[in-house]
Amino acid sequence: MKKYISINEKIDVFKKKSITVDGDKSLSIRFVILASLSKGKCYASNILKSEDVISAINCIKKLGIKIKLKNKNCEIHGNGLFGYKYKKNLTLDAGNSGTAARLLCSVLIDTNHKIKITGDSSLKKRDMNRVIRPLKLFGAKFTSKKGRLPVYINGSKILKPIKFKENLGSAQCKSAVLLASLKTSGKTILSCKPSRNHTELMFKNVLKLPIKTKKLNKYDHIQINGLDEFKSFNYKIPGDISSASFFIVLTLLSKNKSLTIKNVNINPSRTGIIKILNKMGAKIKFFNKKMYKGENLADIFVKSNKKLKPISLDPKLNSSAIDEFLLIFLVSCTCNGVSTFKKLSELNKKESKRLDWGIKILTMMGIKTKKIKNDGIKIWGKPNLKLQGNFTIKNFLKDHRIFMTTTIASLALGGNWKIYSTDSFQTSFPSFIKILKNLGAKIKE
Ligand code: S3P
Repeated sequence: MKKYISINEKIDVFKKKSITVDGDKSLSIRFVILASLSKGKCYASNILKSEDVISAINCIKKLGIKIKLKNKNCEIHGNGLFGYKYKKNLTLDAGNSGTAARLLCSVLIDTNHKIKITGDSSLKKRDMNRVIRPLKLFGAKFTSKKGRLPVYINGSKILKPIKFKENLGSAQCKSAVLLASLKTSGKTILSCKPSRNHTELMFKNVLKLPIKTKKLNKYDHIQINGLDEFKSFNYKIPGDISSASFFIVLTLLSKNKSLTIKNVNINPSRTGIIKILNKMGAKIKFFNKKMYKGENLADIFVKSNKKLKPISLDPKLNSSAIDEFLLIFLVSCTCNGVSTFKKLSELNKKESKRLDWGIKILTMMGIKTKKIKNDGIKIWGKPNLKLQGNFTIKNFLKDHRIFMTTTIASLALGGNWKIYSTDSFQTSFPSFIKILKNLGAKIKE
């Protein structure tokens, strides 16, 4: 029997004025991978102990790297850029993590034995060709069926730098190329559609590598040289804005509430949700702004707002809010008018087909939607939306963001909800239910 949670009551009053959310997933996985390639001991505090990060850690351990994880502290003994040690016939299982699977393909382009990379049933449906194509150009061999996992890597010791144009706006694809470029002896030149820039910031501000980045009109240009080794480093992982977003939207859509979410990474390549919600009239504010190793951090303050405006979103903002669209759709349901979102084909390539799931859930909630050009959506909002009746959410490939978004919908808008796959939020945000309960949510498991 699959487990579900049931929620039959909106959240009444918040029992807390401020919360912290778990550490950033993108930065935690990047820490694990970069630390394993460094020369010496690396430490991270506040690492995200979610299933995706644990999958990345387990894969890296199988590559002969010592990792100690205690509470949220992680110590990794890097063995250098070319220092992985492993047996023949190695299989690495990235679980549900697209970031881990794609970045592992990249750091293994010099392997001398064939390595198999696989994942869970959701990850096996996702496109790996986006990284296989550029990684082959470096000189490694990849085999797969139609670019899906399992992928087999036969590396090469003669790797050449490449010139590559990244057209999807995928940070995983860009990061895979950047990591691979380190193993070459020359200059790799990348031109990419904008996407989260944590890898570039870590290269520059943590590893002190001479990476050159330039923002041009539609593309970011990056130049990076291969090297022999880089030193070990320490990192304090800040809160994840994607996790904070659930609480931002819960507060915004509830009645007479306010909340501060402390120490969150507000890197501009990740704050699309804030920009979008503020354009809709939300007035979300940042306090105690700080810089940490190239990343922008702040406390986020949000208040309830029942008078949000619909939006016709400029697709330029899509990539900086790519993991938050289900929440943005939910907010659009409560606006007085029609919201339009376009060029969202990447959404259907996530842990589940999120654009299609967004339409299904909104329809179930009695909201009129229309799919436009197969990669967009129009949403007819209903101001003062109150949900009544029964809602069951299941068979969503355990997509963590569907589980968490529908939980927020129930707590903010009402109705009697049964939401299946209660372990799905462990993928990215293990403290999700605990924080909700501490705020006063009544959730039966
Ligand atoms: C991530 C990049 C994004 C995002 C994912 C994490 C990363 O994916 O959706 O959750 O850490 O680089 P894409 O690179 O496919 O856009």
